[in-house]
Amino acid sequence: MLNAPHAAPLAADPALCAQPASTAPLVAARHLGFVHHGPGGALRILQGVDLTIKAGEKVAVLGPSGSGKTSLLMLLGGLEAPSEGEVWLGGVNLGALDEEGRARLRRAQIGIVFQAFHLVPTLDARENVALPLELQGHAPRAARAAAEEMLAAVGLAHRARHLPAALSGGEQQRVAIARALVTRPALVLADEPTGNLDAETAETVMAVFFERLAEAGAALCLVTHDRALAARTDRVLALRHGRLEPL
Ligand SMILES: Nc1ncnc2c1ncn2[C@@H]1O[C@H](COP(=O)(O)OP(=O)(O)OP(=O)(O)O)[C@@H](O)[C@H]1O
Ligand SMILES: [Mg+2]
Repeated sequence: MLNAPHAAPLAADPALCAQPASTAPLVAARHLGFVHHGPGGALRILQGVDLTIKAGEKVAVLGPSGSGKTSLLMLLGGLEAPSEGEVWLGGVNLGALDEEGRARLRRAQIGIVFQAFHLVPTLDARENVALPLELQGHAPRAARAAAEEMLAAVGLAHRARHLPAALSGGEQQRVAIARALVTRPALVLADEPTGNLDAETAETVMAVFFERLAEAGAALCLVTHDRALAARTDRVLALRHGRLEPL
Protein backbone atom coordinates (compact mmCIF):
# COMPACT_ATOMS: atom_id res chain seq x y z
CA MET A 1 0.00 0.00 0.00
CA LEU A 2 1.09 3.52 -0.70
CA ASN A 3 2.33 5.58 2.14
CA ALA A 4 0.39 8.72 1.39
CA PRO A 5 1.40 11.78 3.40
CA HIS A 6 -0.68 11.69 6.55
CA ALA A 7 -0.80 15.33 7.36
CA ALA A 8 0.03 17.43 4.36
CA PRO A 9 0.69 21.09 5.15
CA LEU A 10 -2.68 22.50 6.04
CA ALA A 11 -2.44 26.21 5.57
CA ALA A 12 0.44 28.39 4.60
CA ASP A 13 -1.17 31.33 6.36
CA PRO A 14 -0.38 31.13 10.09
CA ALA A 15 -3.27 33.49 10.78
CA LEU A 16 -5.57 30.59 9.97
CA CYS A 17 -4.13 28.60 12.85
CA ALA A 18 -5.34 29.74 16.25
CA GLN A 19 -3.31 27.02 17.93
CA PRO A 20 -0.53 24.71 16.81
CA ALA A 21 -1.97 21.81 14.84
CA SER A 22 -0.14 19.31 17.08
CA THR A 23 -2.11 20.36 20.19
CA ALA A 24 -5.45 21.03 18.50
CA PRO A 25 -8.06 18.27 18.39
CA LEU A 26 -8.38 16.81 14.92
CA VAL A 27 -11.98 18.01 14.61
CA ALA A 28 -13.57 20.79 16.60
CA ALA A 29 -17.10 21.79 15.65
CA ARG A 30 -18.31 24.70 17.71
CA HIS A 31 -21.91 25.70 18.12
CA LEU A 32 -22.89 24.54 14.66
CA GLY A 33 -26.22 25.55 13.26
CA PHE A 34 -27.57 24.54 9.87
CA VAL A 35 -30.69 25.95 8.27
CA HIS A 36 -32.15 25.21 4.82
CA HIS A 37 -34.03 28.04 3.22
CA GLY A 38 -36.66 26.61 0.88
CA PRO A 39 -39.99 27.66 -0.60
CA GLY A 40 -41.69 26.53 2.61
CA GLY A 41 -39.50 28.86 4.67
CA ALA A 42 -36.50 28.18 6.86
CA LEU A 43 -35.96 24.61 8.01
CA ARG A 44 -33.63 24.32 11.00
CA ILE A 45 -31.65 21.08 10.74
CA LEU A 46 -28.92 21.48 13.38
CA GLN A 47 -28.52 23.81 16.32
CA GLY A 48 -25.82 24.35 18.92
CA VAL A 49 -23.87 21.27 17.87
CA ASP A 50 -20.49 20.93 19.58
CA LEU A 51 -18.27 18.01 18.66
CA THR A 52 -14.61 17.35 19.30
CA ILE A 53 -12.80 14.35 17.84
CA LYS A 54 -9.22 13.60 18.78
CA ALA A 55 -6.71 12.11 16.35
CA GLY A 56 -7.44 8.40 16.04
CA GLU A 57 -10.73 8.62 17.97
CA LYS A 58 -13.79 6.87 16.61
CA VAL A 59 -17.18 8.47 17.16
CA ALA A 60 -20.60 7.29 16.04
CA VAL A 61 -23.70 9.43 15.68
CA LEU A 62 -27.07 7.69 15.80
CA GLY A 63 -30.26 9.39 14.77
CA PRO A 64 -33.53 8.68 12.99
CA SER A 65 -34.01 9.37 9.30
CA GLY A 66 -34.14 13.10 8.63
CA SER A 67 -32.44 14.01 11.92
CA GLY A 68 -29.53 15.71 10.14
CA LYS A 69 -26.80 13.04 10.17
CA THR A 70 -25.76 13.52 6.55
CA SER A 71 -25.96 17.29 6.98
CA LEU A 72 -23.59 17.07 9.95
CA LEU A 73 -21.04 15.06 7.94
CA MET A 74 -21.25 17.54 5.07
CA LEU A 75 -20.43 20.36 7.50
CA LEU A 76 -17.52 18.42 9.05
CA GLY A 77 -16.11 17.74 5.58
CA GLY A 78 -16.47 21.37 4.51
CA LEU A 79 -18.86 20.38 1.72
CA GLU A 80 -21.57 22.61 3.19
CA ALA A 81 -21.09 25.79 5.16
CA PRO A 82 -22.75 26.09 8.57
CA SER A 83 -25.36 28.80 9.10
CA GLU A 84 -23.79 29.40 12.52
CA GLY A 85 -20.64 28.23 14.27
CA GLU A 86 -17.34 26.92 13.01
CA VAL A 87 -15.64 23.70 11.99
CA TRP A 88 -11.91 23.38 12.67
CA LEU A 89 -9.84 20.58 11.22
CA GLY A 90 -6.31 20.07 12.51
CA GLY A 91 -6.24 23.62 13.85
CA VAL A 92 -7.58 25.18 10.66
CA ASN A 93 -10.91 26.98 10.50
CA LEU A 94 -12.66 25.66 7.37
CA GLY A 95 -14.68 28.87 7.16
CA ALA A 96 -11.47 30.87 6.74
CA LEU A 97 -10.52 28.92 3.60
CA ASP A 98 -11.91 29.43 0.12
CA GLU A 99 -13.50 26.56 -1.83
CA GLU A 100 -10.16 25.51 -3.33
CA GLY A 101 -8.47 25.60 0.08
CA ARG A 102 -11.19 23.38 1.56
CA ALA A 103 -10.89 20.98 -1.38
CA ARG A 104 -7.12 20.79 -0.90
CA LEU A 105 -7.49 20.12 2.80
CA ARG A 106 -10.14 17.45 2.13
CA ARG A 107 -7.90 15.71 -0.41
CA ALA A 108 -5.02 15.65 2.07
CA GLN A 109 -6.86 14.78 5.27
CA ILE A 110 -10.32 13.29 4.77
CA GLY A 111 -11.88 10.20 3.26
CA ILE A 112 -15.65 10.25 2.82
CA VAL A 113 -18.00 7.32 2.36
CA PHE A 114 -21.08 9.07 0.99
CA GLN A 115 -24.53 7.67 1.70
CA ALA A 116 -25.24 7.81 -2.05
CA PHE A 117 -21.66 6.67 -2.91
CA HIS A 118 -20.99 9.44 -5.48
CA LEU A 119 -18.75 7.28 -7.63
CA VAL A 120 -17.65 8.79 -10.94
CA PRO A 121 -19.88 6.98 -13.45
CA THR A 122 -17.36 7.06 -16.31
CA LEU A 123 -14.54 5.51 -14.26
CA ASP A 124 -14.33 1.84 -13.39
CA ALA A 125 -14.03 0.65 -9.79
CA ARG A 126 -10.23 0.67 -9.84
CA GLU A 127 -10.07 4.14 -11.38
CA ASN A 128 -12.58 5.47 -8.84
CA VAL A 129 -10.47 4.17 -5.96
CA ALA A 130 -7.22 5.39 -7.55
CA LEU A 131 -8.59 8.89 -8.17
CA PRO A 132 -7.96 10.42 -4.71
CA LEU A 133 -4.35 9.21 -4.84
CA GLU A 134 -3.87 10.68 -8.29
CA LEU A 135 -5.35 13.96 -7.07
CA GLN A 136 -2.74 13.89 -4.31
CA GLY A 137 -0.06 13.63 -6.99
CA HIS A 138 0.77 9.93 -6.86
CA ALA A 139 1.82 8.31 -10.14
CA PRO A 140 -1.13 6.62 -11.90
CA ARG A 141 0.54 3.22 -11.88
CA ALA A 142 1.19 3.27 -8.13
CA ALA A 143 -2.30 4.66 -7.51
CA ARG A 144 -3.88 1.84 -9.52
CA ALA A 145 -1.84 -0.78 -7.67
CA ALA A 146 -2.95 0.64 -4.30
CA ALA A 147 -6.54 0.78 -5.56
CA GLU A 148 -6.41 -2.88 -6.58
CA GLU A 149 -5.11 -3.81 -3.15
CA MET A 150 -7.92 -1.89 -1.42
CA LEU A 151 -10.55 -3.41 -3.71
CA ALA A 152 -9.22 -6.88 -2.91
CA ALA A 153 -9.43 -6.04 0.81
CA VAL A 154 -13.17 -5.28 0.48
CA GLY A 155 -13.72 -8.42 -1.61
CA LEU A 156 -14.00 -6.76 -5.00
CA ALA A 157 -10.84 -7.81 -6.84
CA HIS A 158 -13.04 -9.47 -9.47
CA ARG A 159 -15.01 -6.27 -10.14
CA ALA A 160 -12.09 -3.83 -10.53
CA ARG A 161 -12.79 -3.15 -14.21
CA HIS A 162 -16.55 -2.69 -13.86
CA LEU A 163 -18.19 0.71 -14.19
CA PRO A 164 -20.40 1.74 -11.25
CA ALA A 165 -23.56 1.14 -13.31
CA ALA A 166 -22.54 -2.51 -13.67
CA LEU A 167 -22.11 -2.96 -9.92
CA SER A 168 -24.77 -3.79 -7.33
CA GLY A 169 -25.57 -1.24 -4.62
CA GLY A 170 -23.52 -3.17 -2.08
CA GLU A 171 -20.59 -3.43 -4.50
CA GLN A 172 -20.73 0.32 -5.14
CA GLN A 173 -20.75 0.88 -1.40
CA ARG A 174 -17.61 -1.22 -1.04
CA VAL A 175 -15.91 0.75 -3.82
CA ALA A 176 -16.85 3.94 -1.94
CA ILE A 177 -15.34 2.48 1.25
CA ALA A 178 -12.15 1.50 -0.58
CA ARG A 179 -11.92 5.00 -2.08
CA ALA A 180 -12.31 6.63 1.36
CA LEU A 181 -9.54 4.51 2.89
CA VAL A 182 -6.99 4.35 0.09
CA THR A 183 -5.23 7.61 0.98
CA ARG A 184 -4.90 6.61 4.66
CA PRO A 185 -6.66 9.83 5.66
CA ALA A 186 -6.43 11.35 9.15
CA LEU A 187 -10.24 11.49 9.28
CA VAL A 188 -12.87 9.24 7.75
CA LEU A 189 -16.46 10.45 7.51
CA ALA A 190 -18.77 7.51 6.90
CA ASP A 191 -22.47 7.84 6.13
CA GLU A 192 -24.34 4.57 6.71
CA PRO A 193 -21.41 2.57 5.29
CA THR A 194 -23.26 -0.73 5.68
CA GLY A 195 -26.65 0.55 4.49
CA ASN A 196 -26.53 -1.54 1.31
CA LEU A 197 -24.70 -4.59 2.60
CA ASP A 198 -26.13 -7.90 3.79
CA ALA A 199 -25.21 -8.84 7.37
CA GLU A 200 -22.39 -11.19 6.42
CA THR A 201 -20.75 -8.83 3.91
CA ALA A 202 -21.19 -5.91 6.35
CA GLU A 203 -19.35 -7.87 9.01
CA THR A 204 -16.45 -8.74 6.69
CA VAL A 205 -16.16 -5.25 5.19
CA MET A 206 -16.43 -3.47 8.55
CA ALA A 207 -13.70 -5.70 9.97
CA VAL A 208 -11.44 -4.51 7.12
CA PHE A 209 -12.66 -0.95 7.59
CA PHE A 210 -11.79 -0.80 11.31
CA GLU A 211 -8.50 -2.65 10.72
CA ARG A 212 -7.43 -0.07 8.13
CA LEU A 213 -8.50 2.82 10.36
CA ALA A 214 -6.42 1.43 13.21
CA GLU A 215 -3.45 0.81 10.94
CA ALA A 216 -3.54 4.41 9.69
CA GLY A 217 -4.33 5.83 13.16
CA ALA A 218 -7.31 7.51 11.51
CA ALA A 219 -10.19 9.14 13.34
CA LEU A 220 -13.76 8.28 12.38
CA CYS A 221 -17.08 10.05 12.46
CA LEU A 222 -19.66 7.45 11.53
CA VAL A 223 -23.36 8.21 11.16
CA THR A 224 -25.70 5.28 11.15
CA HIS A 225 -28.97 3.71 12.27
CA ASP A 226 -27.06 0.54 13.11
CA ARG A 227 -26.45 0.32 16.86
CA ALA A 228 -24.23 -2.76 16.57
CA LEU A 229 -21.97 -0.91 14.15
CA ALA A 230 -21.97 2.20 16.37
CA ALA A 231 -20.92 0.03 19.32
CA ARG A 232 -17.61 -0.67 17.57
CA THR A 233 -16.57 2.97 18.06
CA ASP A 234 -15.10 4.70 21.15
CA ARG A 235 -18.05 7.02 21.74
CA VAL A 236 -21.69 7.03 20.64
CA LEU A 237 -23.74 10.23 20.38
CA ALA A 238 -27.33 10.80 19.36
CA LEU A 239 -28.75 13.48 17.13
CA ARG A 240 -32.18 14.54 18.38
CA HIS A 241 -34.16 17.60 17.40
CA GLY A 242 -31.08 19.08 15.77
CA ARG A 243 -28.94 18.68 18.88
CA LEU A 244 -26.09 16.27 19.56
CA GLU A 245 -26.26 14.50 22.91
CA PRO A 246 -24.52 11.58 24.58
CA LEU A 247 -26.52 8.41 23.99
N1 LIG B 1 -31.09 20.72 0.16
C1 LIG B 1 -32.05 20.64 1.08
N2 LIG B 1 -33.09 21.50 1.10
C2 LIG B 1 -34.05 21.43 2.04
N3 LIG B 1 -34.07 20.50 3.02
C3 LIG B 1 -33.07 19.61 3.05
C4 LIG B 1 -32.00 19.61 2.09
N4 LIG B 1 -31.14 18.62 2.41
C5 LIG B 1 -31.66 18.00 3.49
N5 LIG B 1 -32.80 18.60 3.88
C6 LIG B 1 -33.64 18.22 5.02
O1 LIG B 1 -32.80 18.22 6.15
C7 LIG B 1 -33.21 17.19 7.06
C8 LIG B 1 -31.99 16.39 7.45
O2 LIG B 1 -31.51 15.70 6.30
P1 LIG B 1 -30.30 14.69 6.38
O3 LIG B 1 -30.10 14.14 5.01
O4 LIG B 1 -29.15 15.36 7.03
O5 LIG B 1 -30.89 13.58 7.37
P2 LIG B 1 -30.32 12.14 7.77
O6 LIG B 1 -30.34 12.06 9.27
O7 LIG B 1 -29.04 11.91 7.09
O8 LIG B 1 -31.43 11.17 7.20
P3 LIG B 1 -31.30 9.64 6.64
O9 LIG B 1 -31.08 8.76 7.84
O10 LIG B 1 -32.63 9.41 6.00
O11 LIG B 1 -30.16 9.62 5.68
C9 LIG B 1 -34.28 16.38 6.34
O12 LIG B 1 -35.52 16.75 6.89
C10 LIG B 1 -34.15 16.81 4.90
O13 LIG B 1 -35.41 16.78 4.26
MG1 LIG C 1 -28.45 10.61 5.65
